[in-house]
Amino acid sequence: MLIKALICSFIPSLLVRAMGENDMYYDTFSNDFAFGAATSAYQIEGGWREDGKGENIWDRFTHQNSTLIQDASNGDIAADSYHKYKNDIQILKELGVETYRFSLSWSRILPNGDISLVNSKGIEYYNKLINELISNGIEPMVTLYHWDLPQQFQDLGGWTNEVISDYFADYARVAFSAFGDRVKWWLTLNEPWIQSVLGYGVGQFAPGLKSIGIADYLAGHTMLKAHTLAYELYKREFQQEHEGKVGIALDASWLAPKSNSSADKEASEQAMQFKLGWFAHPIFSKEGDYPPIMKTMIAAKSKNEGYARSRLPTFTPEWISRIKGSSDFFGLNHYTTFLVNPGKSNSPLFKDSEFQLTQDDSWPSTAADWLKVVPWGFRHLLKWIKEAYDSPLVIVTENGVADNRGINDLQRADYHKRYINEMLKAIRLDGCNVRGYMAWSLIDNFEWSDGYMIKFGLYSVDFDDPERPRVAKESSKVYKEIIKNRGFLAPQHLE
Ligand SMILES: *[C@@H]1O[C@H](CO)[C@@H](O)[C@H](O)[C@H]1NC(C)=O
Ligand SMILES: *[C@@H]1O[C@H](CO)[C@@H](O)[C@H](O)[C@H]1NC(C)=O
Repeated sequence: MLIKALICSFIPSLLVRAMGENDMYYDTFSNDFAFGAATSAYQIEGGWREDGKGENIWDRFTHQNSTLIQDASNGDIAADSYHKYKNDIQILKELGVETYRFSLSWSRILPNGDISLVNSKGIEYYNKLINELISNGIEPMVTLYHWDLPQQFQDLGGWTNEVISDYFADYARVAFSAFGDRVKWWLTLNEPWIQSVLGYGVGQFAPGLKSIGIADYLAGHTMLKAHTLAYELYKREFQQEHEGKVGIALDASWLAPKSNSSADKEASEQAMQFKLGWFAHPIFSKEGDYPPIMKTMIAAKSKNEGYARSRLPTFTPEWISRIKGSSDFFGLNHYTTFLVNPGKSNSPLFKDSEFQLTQDDSWPSTAADWLKVVPWGFRHLLKWIKEAYDSPLVIVTENGVADNRGINDLQRADYHKRYINEMLKAIRLDGCNVRGYMAWSLIDNFEWSDGYMIKFGLYSVDFDDPERPRVAKESSKVYKEIIKNRGFLAPQHLE
Protein backbone atom coordinates (compact mmCIF):
# COMPACT_ATOMS: atom_id res chain seq x y z
CA MET A 1 0.00 0.00 0.00
CA LEU A 2 2.63 2.43 1.09
CA ILE A 3 4.70 1.60 -1.97
CA LYS A 4 1.74 2.14 -4.24
CA ALA A 5 1.01 5.52 -2.65
CA LEU A 6 4.62 6.52 -3.12
CA ILE A 7 4.61 5.53 -6.76
CA CYS A 8 1.37 7.40 -7.39
CA SER A 9 2.68 10.53 -5.77
CA PHE A 10 5.59 10.48 -8.19
CA ILE A 11 3.43 10.34 -11.29
CA PRO A 12 2.69 14.07 -11.61
CA SER A 13 6.35 14.97 -11.37
CA LEU A 14 7.15 12.33 -13.97
CA LEU A 15 4.62 13.91 -16.29
CA VAL A 16 5.93 17.42 -15.98
CA ARG A 17 9.56 16.44 -16.33
CA ALA A 18 10.64 16.76 -19.96
CA MET A 19 10.98 13.28 -21.40
CA GLY A 20 14.58 12.22 -22.06
CA GLU A 21 15.52 10.44 -25.29
CA ASN A 22 15.81 7.07 -23.60
CA ASP A 23 12.78 7.25 -21.32
CA MET A 24 9.97 4.78 -21.82
CA TYR A 25 6.69 6.34 -22.89
CA TYR A 26 3.56 4.64 -21.58
CA ASP A 27 0.62 4.54 -23.91
CA THR A 28 -1.12 2.18 -26.32
CA PHE A 29 -1.50 1.82 -30.08
CA SER A 30 -4.84 2.39 -31.77
CA ASN A 31 -6.99 -0.64 -32.53
CA ASP A 32 -6.33 -0.52 -36.26
CA PHE A 33 -2.56 -0.70 -35.74
CA ALA A 34 -1.22 -4.03 -37.07
CA PHE A 35 1.56 -5.94 -35.36
CA GLY A 36 3.26 -8.62 -37.39
CA ALA A 37 6.44 -10.45 -38.28
CA ALA A 38 8.31 -10.70 -41.57
CA THR A 39 10.33 -13.19 -43.61
CA SER A 40 11.42 -13.61 -47.23
CA ALA A 41 11.22 -16.57 -49.59
CA TYR A 42 14.88 -17.31 -50.28
CA GLN A 43 15.82 -16.91 -46.61
CA ILE A 44 13.32 -19.45 -45.24
CA GLU A 45 11.70 -21.66 -47.88
CA GLY A 46 14.35 -24.04 -49.09
CA GLY A 47 12.94 -26.45 -51.68
CA TRP A 48 15.18 -24.69 -54.14
CA ARG A 49 14.40 -27.03 -57.05
CA GLU A 50 11.34 -28.79 -55.76
CA ASP A 51 8.08 -29.14 -57.65
CA GLY A 52 9.30 -27.31 -60.72
CA LYS A 53 10.88 -24.21 -59.16
CA GLY A 54 13.34 -22.48 -61.51
CA GLU A 55 16.81 -21.19 -60.64
CA ASN A 56 17.18 -17.65 -59.32
CA ILE A 57 20.18 -15.38 -58.79
CA TRP A 58 20.63 -16.40 -55.15
CA ASP A 59 20.65 -20.09 -56.10
CA ARG A 60 23.30 -19.33 -58.71
CA PHE A 61 25.32 -16.98 -56.50
CA THR A 62 25.49 -19.26 -53.44
CA HIS A 63 26.30 -22.31 -55.54
CA GLN A 64 28.91 -20.63 -57.72
CA ASN A 65 30.35 -18.06 -55.34
CA SER A 66 30.11 -19.81 -51.97
CA THR A 67 33.39 -18.18 -50.91
CA LEU A 68 31.44 -14.91 -50.71
CA ILE A 69 29.13 -16.40 -48.06
CA GLN A 70 30.65 -16.35 -44.53
CA ASP A 71 29.98 -20.03 -43.84
CA ALA A 72 29.85 -21.08 -47.50
CA SER A 73 26.19 -22.00 -46.97
CA ASN A 74 23.08 -21.43 -49.08
CA GLY A 75 19.29 -21.40 -48.97
CA ASP A 76 18.78 -24.83 -50.57
CA ILE A 77 16.94 -26.03 -47.45
CA ALA A 78 17.10 -22.96 -45.17
CA ALA A 79 14.35 -23.18 -42.52
CA ASP A 80 12.45 -25.57 -44.81
CA SER A 81 9.34 -23.41 -44.71
CA TYR A 82 8.35 -24.93 -48.05
CA HIS A 83 7.37 -27.97 -45.98
CA LYS A 84 6.99 -26.44 -42.54
CA TYR A 85 4.81 -23.43 -43.28
CA LYS A 86 2.16 -24.74 -40.87
CA ASN A 87 4.72 -24.57 -38.06
CA ASP A 88 5.42 -20.96 -39.02
CA ILE A 89 1.73 -20.17 -38.80
CA GLN A 90 1.53 -21.93 -35.45
CA ILE A 91 4.15 -19.63 -33.96
CA LEU A 92 2.59 -16.56 -35.57
CA LYS A 93 -0.57 -17.53 -33.73
CA GLU A 94 1.31 -18.05 -30.52
CA LEU A 95 2.78 -14.54 -30.89
CA GLY A 96 -0.69 -13.11 -31.40
CA VAL A 97 0.22 -11.07 -34.49
CA GLU A 98 -2.40 -9.62 -36.84
CA THR A 99 -0.21 -9.75 -39.96
CA TYR A 100 2.46 -11.91 -41.59
CA ARG A 101 4.73 -10.35 -44.20
CA PHE A 102 6.37 -12.89 -46.52
CA SER A 103 7.61 -12.85 -50.11
CA LEU A 104 6.78 -14.92 -53.17
CA SER A 105 9.58 -16.70 -54.96
CA TRP A 106 9.24 -15.43 -58.55
CA SER A 107 10.91 -18.51 -60.05
CA ARG A 108 8.76 -20.89 -57.99
CA ILE A 109 5.71 -19.43 -59.74
CA LEU A 110 7.34 -18.70 -63.12
CA PRO A 111 10.36 -21.03 -63.40
CA ASN A 112 11.94 -19.04 -66.25
CA GLY A 113 10.63 -15.72 -65.02
CA ASP A 114 8.30 -15.13 -67.96
CA ILE A 115 4.67 -16.21 -68.25
CA SER A 116 5.23 -18.78 -71.00
CA LEU A 117 5.49 -21.34 -68.20
CA VAL A 118 3.34 -21.06 -65.05
CA ASN A 119 4.14 -23.60 -62.33
CA SER A 120 0.85 -24.71 -60.80
CA LYS A 121 2.70 -26.32 -57.87
CA GLY A 122 4.18 -22.94 -57.01
CA ILE A 123 0.77 -21.28 -57.08
CA GLU A 124 -0.57 -24.15 -54.98
CA TYR A 125 2.09 -23.67 -52.29
CA TYR A 126 1.24 -20.00 -51.80
CA ASN A 127 -2.49 -20.77 -51.89
CA LYS A 128 -2.02 -23.24 -49.04
CA LEU A 129 0.06 -20.74 -47.09
CA ILE A 130 -2.40 -17.86 -47.61
CA ASN A 131 -5.45 -19.98 -46.84
CA GLU A 132 -3.89 -21.36 -43.68
CA LEU A 133 -3.01 -17.83 -42.54
CA ILE A 134 -6.53 -16.59 -43.14
CA SER A 135 -8.15 -19.53 -41.40
CA ASN A 136 -5.96 -18.67 -38.40
CA GLY A 137 -7.06 -15.05 -38.47
CA ILE A 138 -3.74 -13.68 -39.76
CA GLU A 139 -3.64 -11.14 -42.58
CA PRO A 140 -1.12 -11.84 -45.35
CA MET A 141 1.14 -8.99 -46.51
CA VAL A 142 2.94 -10.11 -49.65
CA THR A 143 6.21 -8.89 -51.15
CA LEU A 144 6.49 -9.70 -54.85
CA TYR A 145 10.25 -9.34 -55.03
CA HIS A 146 12.78 -9.88 -52.25
CA TRP A 147 16.00 -10.04 -54.32
CA ASP A 148 15.51 -13.45 -55.98
CA LEU A 149 15.46 -12.61 -59.70
CA PRO A 150 14.92 -15.59 -62.02
CA GLN A 151 18.37 -16.48 -63.40
CA GLN A 152 17.20 -16.34 -67.01
CA PHE A 153 16.76 -12.59 -66.65
CA GLN A 154 20.20 -12.14 -65.12
CA ASP A 155 21.62 -13.68 -68.27
CA LEU A 156 20.06 -10.66 -70.04
CA GLY A 157 21.72 -8.19 -67.63
CA GLY A 158 19.21 -8.47 -64.81
CA TRP A 159 17.84 -5.19 -63.49
CA THR A 160 20.28 -3.16 -65.61
CA ASN A 161 18.11 -4.15 -68.58
CA GLU A 162 14.96 -2.01 -68.68
CA VAL A 163 12.94 -4.73 -70.36
CA ILE A 164 12.91 -6.59 -67.03
CA SER A 165 10.38 -4.02 -65.76
CA ASP A 166 7.84 -5.35 -68.27
CA TYR A 167 8.50 -8.94 -67.23
CA PHE A 168 8.08 -7.89 -63.61
CA ALA A 169 4.67 -6.42 -64.44
CA ASP A 170 3.67 -9.70 -66.16
CA TYR A 171 4.68 -11.59 -63.02
CA ALA A 172 2.80 -9.10 -60.82
CA ARG A 173 -0.36 -9.74 -62.87
CA VAL A 174 -0.04 -13.50 -62.29
CA ALA A 175 0.34 -12.93 -58.54
CA PHE A 176 -2.47 -10.35 -58.28
CA SER A 177 -4.89 -12.58 -60.14
CA ALA A 178 -3.95 -15.78 -58.28
CA PHE A 179 -3.93 -14.33 -54.74
CA GLY A 180 -5.53 -10.86 -54.90
CA ASP A 181 -8.93 -12.07 -53.72
CA ARG A 182 -7.34 -12.80 -50.31
CA VAL A 183 -4.22 -10.60 -50.21
CA LYS A 184 -5.00 -6.92 -49.56
CA TRP A 185 -1.51 -5.67 -48.72
CA TRP A 186 1.11 -5.83 -51.46
CA LEU A 187 4.72 -4.71 -51.60
CA THR A 188 6.27 -4.58 -55.04
CA LEU A 189 10.01 -4.52 -54.25
CA ASN A 190 12.00 -4.99 -51.09
CA GLU A 191 14.89 -2.57 -50.54
CA PRO A 192 15.76 -1.58 -54.10
CA TRP A 193 18.75 0.38 -52.67
CA ILE A 194 20.33 -2.80 -51.28
CA GLN A 195 19.54 -4.75 -54.45
CA SER A 196 21.15 -2.02 -56.57
CA VAL A 197 24.22 -1.15 -54.51
CA LEU A 198 25.09 -4.52 -52.98
CA GLY A 199 23.98 -6.59 -55.98
CA TYR A 200 25.15 -4.42 -58.89
CA GLY A 201 27.52 -1.89 -57.28
CA VAL A 202 29.90 -3.69 -54.91
CA GLY A 203 28.97 -7.30 -55.69
CA GLN A 204 28.51 -8.45 -52.10
CA PHE A 205 25.04 -9.84 -52.88
CA ALA A 206 23.68 -11.68 -55.91
CA PRO A 207 24.14 -11.22 -58.81
CA GLY A 208 27.62 -10.10 -57.67
CA LEU A 209 28.26 -7.37 -60.23
CA LYS A 210 30.96 -4.82 -59.37
CA SER A 211 30.00 -1.63 -61.16
CA ILE A 212 29.46 1.07 -58.55
CA GLY A 213 28.14 4.33 -59.97
CA ILE A 214 26.90 2.75 -63.21
CA ALA A 215 25.11 -0.59 -62.97
CA ASP A 216 23.60 0.25 -59.57
CA TYR A 217 21.96 3.39 -61.02
CA LEU A 218 20.70 1.44 -64.04
CA ALA A 219 19.28 -1.29 -61.80
CA GLY A 220 17.58 1.27 -59.56
CA HIS A 221 16.12 3.02 -62.62
CA THR A 222 14.57 -0.19 -63.91
CA MET A 223 13.25 -1.08 -60.46
CA LEU A 224 11.47 2.28 -60.11
CA LYS A 225 9.77 1.64 -63.45
CA ALA A 226 8.97 -1.97 -62.55
CA HIS A 227 7.39 -0.85 -59.29
CA THR A 228 5.31 1.75 -61.10
CA LEU A 229 4.13 -0.64 -63.80
CA ALA A 230 2.97 -3.13 -61.16
CA TYR A 231 1.23 -0.36 -59.21
CA GLU A 232 -0.57 0.97 -62.30
CA LEU A 233 -1.57 -2.53 -63.31
CA TYR A 234 -3.16 -3.18 -59.93
CA LYS A 235 -5.08 0.09 -60.07
CA ARG A 236 -6.26 -0.59 -63.61
CA GLU A 237 -7.16 -4.26 -63.42
CA PHE A 238 -7.62 -5.24 -59.77
CA GLN A 239 -8.34 -2.27 -57.51
CA GLN A 240 -12.06 -2.15 -58.04
CA GLU A 241 -12.64 -5.79 -57.31
CA HIS A 242 -10.04 -6.45 -54.62
CA GLU A 243 -9.71 -3.05 -52.91
CA GLY A 244 -6.15 -3.68 -51.74
CA LYS A 245 -3.15 -1.46 -51.15
CA VAL A 246 0.14 -1.53 -53.05
CA GLY A 247 3.36 -0.10 -51.65
CA ILE A 248 7.13 -0.54 -51.70
CA ALA A 249 9.58 -1.39 -48.88
CA LEU A 250 12.49 1.08 -48.65
CA ASP A 251 15.45 0.67 -46.31
CA ALA A 252 16.58 3.65 -44.28
CA SER A 253 18.93 4.26 -41.42
CA TRP A 254 18.60 7.53 -39.56
CA LEU A 255 21.57 9.56 -40.82
CA ALA A 256 21.89 12.10 -38.05
CA PRO A 257 24.05 15.23 -38.14
CA LYS A 258 27.19 14.56 -36.11
CA SER A 259 26.85 17.94 -34.41
CA ASN A 260 24.47 20.87 -34.58
CA SER A 261 26.72 22.76 -36.97
CA SER A 262 25.03 23.80 -40.20
CA ALA A 263 27.68 21.90 -42.19
CA ASP A 264 26.78 18.64 -40.42
CA LYS A 265 23.07 19.29 -40.81
CA GLU A 266 23.56 19.84 -44.54
CA ALA A 267 25.63 16.66 -44.81
CA SER A 268 22.91 14.74 -42.99
CA GLU A 269 20.30 16.02 -45.44
CA GLN A 270 22.51 15.11 -48.39
CA ALA A 271 23.00 11.61 -46.97
CA MET A 272 19.27 11.12 -46.45
CA GLN A 273 18.68 12.12 -50.09
CA PHE A 274 21.37 9.81 -51.50
CA LYS A 275 20.19 6.86 -49.41
CA LEU A 276 16.43 7.04 -48.87
CA GLY A 277 15.68 9.86 -51.33
CA TRP A 278 17.06 7.93 -54.33
CA PHE A 279 13.91 5.77 -54.27
CA ALA A 280 11.57 7.75 -52.01
CA HIS A 281 11.82 11.13 -53.76
CA PRO A 282 10.62 9.87 -57.16
CA ILE A 283 7.61 8.16 -55.55
CA PHE A 284 6.66 10.17 -52.47
CA SER A 285 7.79 13.80 -52.97
CA LYS A 286 5.57 16.52 -54.43
CA GLU A 287 8.05 17.16 -57.27
CA GLY A 288 8.89 13.57 -58.18
CA ASP A 289 12.11 12.48 -59.95
CA TYR A 290 15.47 11.81 -58.29
CA PRO A 291 16.49 14.23 -55.52
CA PRO A 292 17.92 17.44 -57.08
CA ILE A 293 21.17 17.05 -55.13
CA MET A 294 21.73 13.55 -56.54
CA LYS A 295 21.12 14.73 -60.10
CA THR A 296 23.43 17.73 -59.75
CA MET A 297 26.30 15.98 -58.00
CA ILE A 298 26.32 12.86 -60.19
CA ALA A 299 26.06 14.94 -63.38
CA ALA A 300 29.00 17.12 -62.30
CA LYS A 301 31.17 14.14 -61.34
CA SER A 302 30.33 12.28 -64.53
CA LYS A 303 31.32 15.33 -66.56
CA ASN A 304 34.62 15.70 -64.71
CA GLU A 305 35.36 12.05 -65.33
CA GLY A 306 34.87 12.54 -69.07
CA TYR A 307 31.50 10.81 -69.51
CA ALA A 308 29.25 12.05 -72.31
CA ARG A 309 26.27 12.10 -69.96
CA SER A 310 25.44 11.59 -66.30
CA ARG A 311 25.91 8.05 -65.01
CA LEU A 312 22.53 8.57 -63.33
CA PRO A 313 19.90 7.86 -66.01
CA THR A 314 17.14 10.42 -66.60
CA PHE A 315 13.39 9.92 -66.55
CA THR A 316 11.21 11.53 -69.20
CA PRO A 317 8.61 14.00 -67.87
CA GLU A 318 6.00 11.31 -68.52
CA TRP A 319 7.81 8.77 -66.32
CA ILE A 320 8.43 11.36 -63.61
CA SER A 321 4.71 11.91 -63.30
CA ARG A 322 3.82 8.22 -63.55
CA ILE A 323 6.28 7.23 -60.79
CA LYS A 324 5.19 10.12 -58.57
CA GLY A 325 2.41 8.97 -56.24
CA SER A 326 2.69 5.32 -57.30
CA SER A 327 2.32 3.94 -53.79
CA ASP A 328 -0.59 3.62 -51.38
CA PHE A 329 1.74 3.44 -48.40
CA PHE A 330 5.39 3.81 -47.40
CA GLY A 331 6.95 0.49 -46.35
CA LEU A 332 9.93 1.24 -44.12
CA ASN A 333 12.73 -1.15 -43.19
CA HIS A 334 14.78 0.32 -40.34
CA TYR A 335 17.61 -1.06 -38.22
CA THR A 336 20.16 1.51 -37.08
CA THR A 337 21.58 5.05 -37.08
CA PHE A 338 24.76 6.67 -38.39
CA LEU A 339 26.31 10.08 -37.73
CA VAL A 340 27.10 12.27 -40.70
CA ASN A 341 29.67 14.98 -41.34
CA PRO A 342 30.85 16.50 -44.62
CA GLY A 343 33.95 15.11 -46.34
CA LYS A 344 35.19 12.71 -48.96
CA SER A 345 33.07 9.55 -48.76
CA ASN A 346 34.49 6.95 -46.36
CA SER A 347 32.24 4.15 -47.58
CA PRO A 348 32.59 2.02 -50.71
CA LEU A 349 28.78 2.11 -50.90
CA PHE A 350 28.70 5.86 -51.59
CA LYS A 351 30.73 6.82 -54.63
CA ASP A 352 29.22 10.11 -55.69
CA SER A 353 28.38 11.87 -52.45
CA GLU A 354 30.41 14.08 -50.12
CA PHE A 355 29.71 12.89 -46.61
CA GLN A 356 31.22 10.55 -44.05
CA LEU A 357 29.38 8.04 -41.91
CA THR A 358 30.40 7.06 -38.39
CA GLN A 359 28.79 5.48 -35.36
CA ASP A 360 29.24 6.49 -31.74
CA ASP A 361 31.42 4.14 -29.70
CA SER A 362 28.96 4.37 -26.84
CA TRP A 363 26.14 2.81 -28.88
CA PRO A 364 25.65 -0.88 -28.02
CA SER A 365 27.04 -3.15 -30.73
CA THR A 366 25.46 -6.34 -32.06
CA ALA A 367 26.45 -9.40 -34.09
CA ALA A 368 26.22 -7.29 -37.29
CA ASP A 369 29.04 -4.75 -37.42
CA TRP A 370 26.84 -2.07 -39.04
CA LEU A 371 23.96 -2.52 -36.64
CA LYS A 372 24.26 -0.48 -33.44
CA VAL A 373 21.32 -0.15 -31.08
CA VAL A 374 20.05 3.44 -31.32
CA PRO A 375 16.32 3.49 -30.55
CA TRP A 376 15.91 7.29 -30.61
CA GLY A 377 17.08 7.36 -34.25
CA PHE A 378 13.90 5.54 -35.26
CA ARG A 379 11.72 8.39 -33.99
CA HIS A 380 13.85 11.01 -35.78
CA LEU A 381 13.66 9.05 -39.03
CA LEU A 382 9.87 8.72 -38.85
CA LYS A 383 9.62 12.47 -38.27
CA TRP A 384 11.95 13.17 -41.21
CA ILE A 385 9.75 11.01 -43.48
CA LYS A 386 6.62 12.76 -42.25
CA GLU A 387 8.09 16.17 -43.05
CA ALA A 388 9.79 15.27 -46.33
CA TYR A 389 6.85 13.42 -47.89
CA ASP A 390 3.78 15.10 -46.42
CA SER A 391 2.72 12.54 -43.80
CA PRO A 392 2.48 9.36 -45.84
CA LEU A 393 0.82 6.26 -44.38
CA VAL A 394 3.82 4.30 -43.07
CA ILE A 395 3.99 0.57 -42.38
CA VAL A 396 7.23 -0.51 -40.73
CA THR A 397 7.92 -3.55 -42.87
CA GLU A 398 11.14 -4.58 -41.07
CA ASN A 399 12.85 -3.80 -37.78
CA GLY A 400 15.10 -6.10 -35.79
CA VAL A 401 18.56 -6.95 -34.54
CA ALA A 402 21.26 -9.56 -35.15
CA ASP A 403 22.83 -11.82 -32.51
CA ASN A 404 24.14 -15.32 -32.02
CA ARG A 405 23.04 -15.94 -28.45
CA GLY A 406 20.42 -18.66 -28.85
CA ILE A 407 17.08 -18.43 -27.09
CA ASN A 408 18.24 -16.25 -24.21
CA ASP A 409 18.22 -13.18 -26.47
CA LEU A 410 17.80 -10.38 -23.97
CA GLN A 411 19.39 -7.82 -26.29
CA ARG A 412 16.75 -8.54 -28.96
CA ALA A 413 13.93 -8.38 -26.40
CA ASP A 414 15.19 -4.97 -25.28
CA TYR A 415 15.76 -3.80 -28.87
CA HIS A 416 12.18 -4.47 -29.98
CA LYS A 417 10.75 -2.99 -26.80
CA ARG A 418 12.73 0.25 -27.16
CA TYR A 419 12.29 0.64 -30.92
CA ILE A 420 8.54 -0.01 -30.71
CA ASN A 421 8.41 2.54 -27.91
CA GLU A 422 10.16 5.16 -30.06
CA MET A 423 7.69 4.43 -32.85
CA LEU A 424 4.86 5.00 -30.37
CA LYS A 425 6.40 8.37 -29.44
CA ALA A 426 6.56 9.26 -33.14
CA ILE A 427 2.86 8.47 -33.49
CA ARG A 428 1.57 10.05 -30.29
CA LEU A 429 3.95 12.96 -29.80
CA ASP A 430 5.00 13.83 -33.37
CA GLY A 431 1.81 12.92 -35.24
CA CYS A 432 3.46 10.41 -37.60
CA ASN A 433 0.97 8.28 -39.53
CA VAL A 434 2.39 4.81 -38.75
CA ARG A 435 -0.08 1.95 -38.91
CA GLY A 436 1.88 -1.28 -38.73
CA TYR A 437 5.05 -2.92 -37.42
CA MET A 438 6.53 -6.12 -38.86
CA ALA A 439 9.34 -7.47 -36.69
CA TRP A 440 12.29 -8.86 -38.63
CA SER A 441 12.28 -11.76 -38.38
CA LEU A 442 9.80 -14.44 -37.39
CA ILE A 443 12.46 -17.18 -37.44
CA ASP A 444 16.22 -17.52 -37.79
CA ASN A 445 17.07 -17.79 -41.47
CA PHE A 446 19.68 -17.55 -44.23
CA GLU A 447 21.12 -14.07 -43.71
CA TRP A 448 22.54 -13.46 -47.21
CA SER A 449 26.33 -13.11 -47.21
CA ASP A 450 26.42 -13.84 -43.45
CA GLY A 451 24.90 -17.25 -44.12
CA TYR A 452 23.72 -18.78 -40.84
CA MET A 453 26.38 -17.00 -38.75
CA ILE A 454 24.05 -14.33 -37.38
CA LYS A 455 20.39 -14.58 -36.41
CA PHE A 456 17.45 -12.22 -36.51
CA GLY A 457 14.62 -14.56 -35.41
CA LEU A 458 12.11 -14.20 -32.60
CA TYR A 459 12.14 -18.01 -32.80
CA SER A 460 15.29 -20.06 -33.19
CA VAL A 461 15.72 -22.73 -35.86
CA ASP A 462 18.24 -25.54 -35.44
CA PHE A 463 19.80 -25.77 -38.91
CA ASP A 464 21.63 -29.00 -37.99
CA ASP A 465 18.36 -30.78 -37.25
CA PRO A 466 16.57 -32.12 -40.34
CA GLU A 467 13.27 -31.27 -38.64
CA ARG A 468 14.28 -27.59 -38.33
CA PRO A 469 12.40 -27.16 -35.02
CA ARG A 470 11.21 -23.63 -34.16
CA VAL A 471 11.79 -22.69 -30.50
CA ALA A 472 10.55 -19.52 -28.81
CA LYS A 473 13.24 -17.07 -27.74
CA GLU A 474 12.86 -14.64 -24.83
CA SER A 475 12.26 -11.82 -27.32
CA SER A 476 9.15 -13.55 -28.67
CA LYS A 477 7.66 -13.46 -25.17
CA VAL A 478 8.38 -9.76 -24.78
CA TYR A 479 6.94 -9.00 -28.22
CA LYS A 480 3.89 -11.13 -27.46
CA GLU A 481 3.30 -9.14 -24.26
CA ILE A 482 3.54 -5.81 -26.13
CA ILE A 483 1.03 -7.07 -28.69
CA LYS A 484 -1.30 -8.36 -25.99
CA ASN A 485 -1.21 -5.02 -24.16
CA ARG A 486 -1.33 -3.15 -27.49
CA GLY A 487 1.57 -1.07 -26.24
CA PHE A 488 3.11 -0.24 -22.91
CA LEU A 489 1.30 -0.18 -19.59
CA ALA A 490 2.61 2.28 -17.02
CA PRO A 491 4.50 0.49 -14.21
CA GLN A 492 1.75 1.05 -11.62
CA HIS A 493 -0.60 -1.04 -13.79
CA LEU A 494 1.74 -3.97 -13.65
CA GLU A 495 1.48 -4.62 -9.90
C1 LIG B 1 31.26 -15.99 -59.14
O1 LIG B 1 31.73 -17.17 -59.75
C2 LIG B 1 31.87 -17.09 -61.16
C3 LIG B 1 32.23 -18.48 -61.68
O2 LIG B 1 33.35 -18.97 -61.01
C4 LIG B 1 32.91 -16.03 -61.52
O3 LIG B 1 33.01 -15.91 -62.91
C5 LIG B 1 32.46 -14.71 -60.91
O4 LIG B 1 33.44 -13.72 -61.12
C6 LIG B 1 32.19 -14.82 -59.41
N1 LIG B 1 31.58 -13.60 -58.92
C7 LIG B 1 32.10 -12.89 -57.93
C8 LIG B 1 31.34 -11.66 -57.54
O5 LIG B 1 33.12 -13.20 -57.34
C1 LIG C 1 21.51 19.66 -31.05
O1 LIG C 1 20.61 20.54 -30.38
C2 LIG C 1 19.52 19.89 -29.75
C3 LIG C 1 18.56 20.93 -29.22
O2 LIG C 1 19.22 21.91 -28.47
C4 LIG C 1 20.06 18.94 -28.67
O3 LIG C 1 18.99 18.27 -28.04
C5 LIG C 1 20.97 17.92 -29.34
O4 LIG C 1 21.54 17.08 -28.37
C6 LIG C 1 22.07 18.62 -30.13
N1 LIG C 1 22.76 17.60 -30.92
C7 LIG C 1 24.05 17.45 -30.95
C8 LIG C 1 24.56 16.34 -31.80
O5 LIG C 1 24.82 18.16 -30.32
